Amino acid sequence: MTFVIWLTGLPGSGKSAISRELLELLRQRGVKCEYLKLDKLRQTIVRRPRYDVEERDFVYSILIEDAIEFVKKNKNVLIDATGYKKEWRDQLRKSVQNFVEVFIKCPLKVCIRREAKRPASWLMHGIYKKAIERKKKKKRYSGLGEVVGVDVPYEENARAELVIESNRLSAKQAAVVLRHYLTMKGFA
Ligand SMILES: Nc1ncnc2c1ncn2[C@@H]1O[C@H](COP(=O)(O)OP(=O)(O)O)[C@@H](O)[C@H]1O
Ligand SMILES: [Mg+2]
Repeated sequence: MTFVIWLTGLPGSGKSAISRELLELLRQRGVKCEYLKLDKLRQTIVRRPRYDVEERDFVYSILIEDAIEFVKKNKNVLIDATGYKKEWRDQLRKSVQNFVEVFIKCPLKVCIRREAKRPASWLMHGIYKKAIERKKKKKRYSGLGEVVGVDVPYEENARAELVIESNRLSAKQAAVVLRHYLTMKGFA
């Protein structure tokens, strides 16, 4: 049985860290899984990202298509993407059989703190700080798009299969929970 698991939540909530741990746990069990990371996908399809609604609708439609294509080829998929619009996640849920939406729940304050610790060389470094300054002081930052959690809200989904509180569990512990869930469902 192939599965699609989507780790969704605010930037800095821990999606990528938990993905890395989960991929390792799956690898240890010999379970293959395609890793779809939105940041990576965006780099390959958008030359100069604007991070606005139109562009996000576009990149998410490609992400969803890619996931569906992998499932058609009987491949498992792990999606690592903020996915702030509930309709994107519901769209994929409708399109594939074994869909697991995992909300990586984390207070905005904690996300901001974690995000500030990212290496300065990272594309995503400092986005919260800049977005908050822009909002409060009307400061302008070139290249800074709409930041989820500050400029656009994350839409929670009551239908999410799992909620992981990443300020209570380590990334490793979270991955163990997810792996158990997949096993319980007979997916991995
Ligand atoms: N319990 C936790 N779960 C996941 N990440 C955590 C946790 N505690 C601290 N972190 C750290 O938070 C930072 C942001 O996580 P990251 O995976 O990059 O977020 P996202 O991919 O959701 O933007 C990373 O440096 C990560 O190691
Ligand atoms: Mg990430």
